Amino acid sequence: METSPATTPFTPGFGLTPRVLALQGSPVEEFAEALAGRRAAGERSVLIAGARGVGKTVLLSQLRDAAALAHWRTIVLHTSSTSMVEELRGSAADLLRELDPDAEQVRATSAEGGAFGVRAGGDVEYVDRYAGEKVPLGRLLDRLAALLTSAGGGLLVSVDEVQSADRDQLHEVAQHMQDLIGEGHGAGFVAAGIRAGVDELLAHPGTTFLRRAHRVDAGSVDLGTAAEVIRQTVADTPRSITVEAAVRAGEISQGYPYLIQVIGAEAWSRAGDAQVIEVEDVEAARAAAVDAMVVNVHGPALRDVTGRRLDYLLAMLEDNGPSAVADVAARLGLEVGAANAHRSRLIREELLEVPETGRVAFALPYLREALERVRETGSTRRVAAPARVARPVRRPRS
Ligand SMILES: Nc1ncnc2c1ncn2[C@@H]1O[C@H](COP(=O)(O)OP(=O)(O)O)[C@@H](O)[C@H]1O
Ligand SMILES: [Mg+2]
Repeated sequence: METSPATTPFTPGFGLTPRVLALQGSPVEEFAEALAGRRAAGERSVLIAGARGVGKTVLLSQLRDAAALAHWRTIVLHTSSTSMVEELRGSAADLLRELDPDAEQVRATSAEGGAFGVRAGGDVEYVDRYAGEKVPLGRLLDRLAALLTSAGGGLLVSVDEVQSADRDQLHEVAQHMQDLIGEGHGAGFVAAGIRAGVDELLAHPGTTFLRRAHRVDAGSVDLGTAAEVIRQTVADTPRSITVEAAVRAGEISQGYPYLIQVIGAEAWSRAGDAQVIEVEDVEAARAAAVDAMVVNVHGPALRDVTGRRLDYLLAMLEDNGPSAVADVAARLGLEVGAANAHRSRLIREELLEVPETGRVAFALPYLREALERVRETGSTRRVAAPARVARPVRRPRS
């Protein structure tokens, strides 16, 4: 592949499918097998949960690609749309117009106009069966799924950022999917969302269907895999990266998918037009990678952390490693029980983890750095803005 040094092979953004994927386990293959009928039909519904930047959106699009390969059709719903149910209806009708040989009903007419016919010719009128809202959505979907299933495929519905979905809308969509599956059609539902939001959603009574979906917890990969992804990404270009540099980049990424891309891209640009990316390029890129993580991942997440939960996190900064739960409570002037309520919620929000009984640690890479910035600026809001302009310093050609 032609790659000039100016165009990075890394994808340091959100929703961008990387050239080389680091995946723990084989969720895409398992999904493909479920579509092919070699696994329980229940595994055709997948719920991906994880923090921002762990690759949920990318994985969701991998699942859709697997579905397309298996001749399934996908309807993508957006939680930002006014009504997911109406979006489903619109997309289902579009697909039916494309797939249903009987989409246009021919009928003899005597009346001029009036009907919502599409084209009129002579004495007959072609009526778009799927126009308007006359047909119940359940019937539309049933017809669509039947057509797709008899052609050897099925209907997949996909929702990203599912934690922000309107509960009633989501319930209605899920109910329809469940009906299709109950009818024996090829049907599946794939969704992704922030873990805390997904867990909250699952606690809601209307989401039994989601609770039964195959759960994929997206997270970091091991450091060896991270280093290999970085090495491989560069190896696919005319440039290369030393083993030492790839290993160091893997360490700095801490296996976090977003950071894998960011450290890779930053090191790539710092290498200037050198043929080989060296460990000093990676070291020089570290600060910018940390910055990107603080601004783009922690900044948005910390906006929702206020009051005692924020105090809890800030109180942990006094320790250089994991904190003793009792120490944090004492610093906050709280009973251990009261402090634990804040701690539990922070764990659910994926900000904290428990390395051993009685201790807590920051769960995400460079969260400590983000909190130090909160402490310096006195605000969680200012963390989302870069503290300084990180100008890439290119290494001169050697
Ligand atoms: N499996 C993966 N391996 C390597 N990098 C990945 C992987 N999945 C995602 N990324 C990278 O991580 C970043 C975030 O991915 P995205 O899917 O948008 O995360 P999320 O939806 O969880 O916030 C992007 O830069 C993307 O290229
Ligand atoms: Mg996403």
